[in-house]
Amino acid sequence: MTRSQGATTTTDAPGPPDHRLGFVSTEEEVSVTALPVRGTIPAWLDGALLRNGPAKFEAGGQGFRHWFDGLAMLHRFAFAGGRVAYANRFLDSPDYRAVRERGRIGYSTFATDPCRSIFARVAARFTGGVGLNANVSIGRVADQFVAWTETPLPIAFDPETLRAAGVLDWEDRLDATTTTPHPLTDPASGDTFNNLVRFGGTSRYTLHRIPAGERRRLPLAALPVREPAYMHSFGLTAGHLVLAEYPLTVNPLRMLLRGRPFAENLRWRPERPTRFLIARRDGGGWLPPAEGGAFFCFHHVNAQERDGELLVDLLAYPDPAIIDALYLDRLRRPAAELALPPLPELRRCRVPLDGGAVRYERLARMGLELPRINDRHRGWDYRYVYGVGQREDGQPDFQNQLVKVDLRTGDAAVWHEAGCYPGEPVFVAAPGARAEDDGVLLSVVLDARRGRSFLLVLDAPSLGELARAEAPHRIPLGFHGCYADRLTAGSKV
Ligand code: CO
Repeated sequence: MTRSQGATTTTDAPGPPDHRLGFVSTEEEVSVTALPVRGTIPAWLDGALLRNGPAKFEAGGQGFRHWFDGLAMLHRFAFAGGRVAYANRFLDSPDYRAVRERGRIGYSTFATDPCRSIFARVAARFTGGVGLNANVSIGRVADQFVAWTETPLPIAFDPETLRAAGVLDWEDRLDATTTTPHPLTDPASGDTFNNLVRFGGTSRYTLHRIPAGERRRLPLAALPVREPAYMHSFGLTAGHLVLAEYPLTVNPLRMLLRGRPFAENLRWRPERPTRFLIARRDGGGWLPPAEGGAFFCFHHVNAQERDGELLVDLLAYPDPAIIDALYLDRLRRPAAELALPPLPELRRCRVPLDGGAVRYERLARMGLELPRINDRHRGWDYRYVYGVGQREDGQPDFQNQLVKVDLRTGDAAVWHEAGCYPGEPVFVAAPGARAEDDGVLLSVVLDARRGRSFLLVLDAPSLGELARAEAPHRIPLGFHGCYADRLTAGSKV
């Protein structure tokens, strides 16, 4: 069942039966035709869940410093007739090759810069210090599946074999240093949107459109900025794109010259506002500026237009302390010493379309991260947000439950099991679904007590468990993924 490569389990030694197992490297690459299943997988589920995340945290005796720096591993859970096949494989990126072939970390990463040679600085300059280790998310550009990180050079891969096919070949000449790993697709047009950031003497944001089925990025609105902000995602509505520009900024020249890891170049300036930069999707340029109080955010949830306002829903932290909290030496502490900042609040930012002051309101009592919605509601009114949360039992721990927030009531339903650490829940609509939540949630859960992971299938309306498929090994905690339906995944199970 395995096609194991090289060393296997030296780093797979059993660790403490808690969240720390999620930050221990794994080396094992396997392909399994049918996982043991408990419960009943809906027969209509016939695509594949593709996941991305870091899985190896050291090379040649050096350790990566930050969770975001671990080498990317892809995972595939493919469904057919109630059965689940599974495979995983390291993403064959330039960073991965550098580690495999030279036995060391060869590129400057988000927060690790072990090699201050000229070569490393040149590489850092080329990639903005973020690297080509695309370990964050999975998306599609034209007919290709790609793994994304925060460089605008996603890595294409085969969704069946998980073999990498090289850096995506854009059919345009846009020049940029970073991007967001959360491009958004309009459910009506199929067009995809994203932001590019170019660092330099004059830095620039470029919001752009990727027409459905194409590999061209067409600029919609560009804005010169002196010190660009670190923005991990953005918002999309029927008529607009919105950047929430938190006052966590990079001095681009200092960064390019010093070649320090990206995270060490970020400066928090809470005396500055969060600017909401809104561009018209029809190419008509920027709307008048709007501002609110400083906050930090990784993830927008959704946005929509209503009564002359943009409603921009996102997960807001009071400050960027979460970035430091995700250094591996801190994540590998026992739960009682984790000292993670509280989960971000689900915040609605009411942004007037004619500019001015932005008002904030809290939409849910419970904090959450790694938010997902029913993507058919992207840019429009919606009712449910899914994510990972933390049990409110007074015990410090890493995120240990799945949550479903009902925006009408602000209440949340939860799924929790002792010793289990679930990942981002991906919503999959049932065929012919009418209700927004008619479908299932798919989440890869680390069962720390057993030292293994499983794929959990929840009934999205109730959060009741429908089934779980036991993976043959432990899967380190990951970031994002997507569900590819049978046709687009080309999946044969
Ligand atoms: Co993200």
